[in-house]
Amino acid sequence: MKKPAIFSFLLSLSGLALASKSFDEKPYTLSTSLSDAPMYTLVGITDWGADILRVYGITTLVLVFVFLTVALPTLYALWRFRAKGNETELPKQFTGNHVMELIWTILPVMLLFIIAIPTWEVIFKQSNRAGDPNNFQVKVIGHQWWWEFQYPDLGITTANELHLPENTPIDFTITSDDVIHSFYVPRFGGKIDAIPGVTNHIYLTTPKVMVPHKLGGDFYQGHCLELCGQSHALMRFEAFVHTKQEFDVWAKNAMNPPQVLSAQEKRGEAVFSQCQACHTIAGTDSAKIPGKKMGPDLTNFGNRRYLGATTRENTLDNMHLWIKNSSQIKPGSRMTSFEGILSDQQIEDVASYVRISTAKKL
Ligand code: CUA
Repeated sequence: MKKPAIFSFLLSLSGLALASKSFDEKPYTLSTSLSDAPMYTLVGITDWGADILRVYGITTLVLVFVFLTVALPTLYALWRFRAKGNETELPKQFTGNHVMELIWTILPVMLLFIIAIPTWEVIFKQSNRAGDPNNFQVKVIGHQWWWEFQYPDLGITTANELHLPENTPIDFTITSDDVIHSFYVPRFGGKIDAIPGVTNHIYLTTPKVMVPHKLGGDFYQGHCLELCGQSHALMRFEAFVHTKQEFDVWAKNAMNPPQVLSAQEKRGEAVFSQCQACHTIAGTDSAKIPGKKMGPDLTNFGNRRYLGATTRENTLDNMHLWIKNSSQIKPGSRMTSFEGILSDQQIEDVASYVRISTAKKL
């Protein structure tokens, strides 16, 4: 798609601004091609995104029509009836014209219907997909400040990385564990609130994998879009769209228990007993503790690209910083600071256990 040069220029400026140093170590990767930009909404790559875009298109045409029918006569009248300096009285007043009154009542009502009908159509199309047995179920739970993703049919629980098979109808069931968040993958279409005690749905068909050779599937940035507290700006996730085979490999391995190989990982495994009230790693004692846990499931943590809901790269150094004092990376983080509770050695051990033992060979 041909794009105006000014857009590329603005995009590169915003890229520079975002790449500047902050507590957020991971700058957004901004593609030089506008239509590939991570939060670009003007290409409907899912059916839902295309529907929304169509309604936007109709709305924009109506708005342009309204603007022109108001602005052009106004400009003409300003020029045609401008004061020439010799006026002695008010111009002839215009009131009580029933034909004009009818026109400017009926016309806006018609314009509203032109917008409303396709909008209703999209809303009904969404709700018609409820309960479709072909839907692939994904449960989305917002937490301050991270995202939990559950695949009830596959028995998978993960966090901050949403893995999806390509070209598949998905039923996202969206809710929250604490305050109101908003689930949004800009390139997929719209957003919807994650509200505690309420279940919202998004139905969409995932796009086809566009770059099949890219390791780990195509990825799309997601973000919380409802101000939800101190680290709202850092409440991000990544959505990965895989080929069906690649997704099956991911799903098959996602809940495999950790492989504890080195002596350091073994020591870390012992330290992890202090973490299991809040975190679960499938196949370990931590999974035997009943009830809901505060922190993300770490079963496949080793395969995640980032930590802290996509705030920093998933490296041992960043893990160390995170365990020591996660609120340095994510202000207001609910995780206890382990500085003074665990020794540096213990932090290193548990970091290597959580990060290395949980990495699945896909
Ligand atoms: Cu969660 Cu903003």
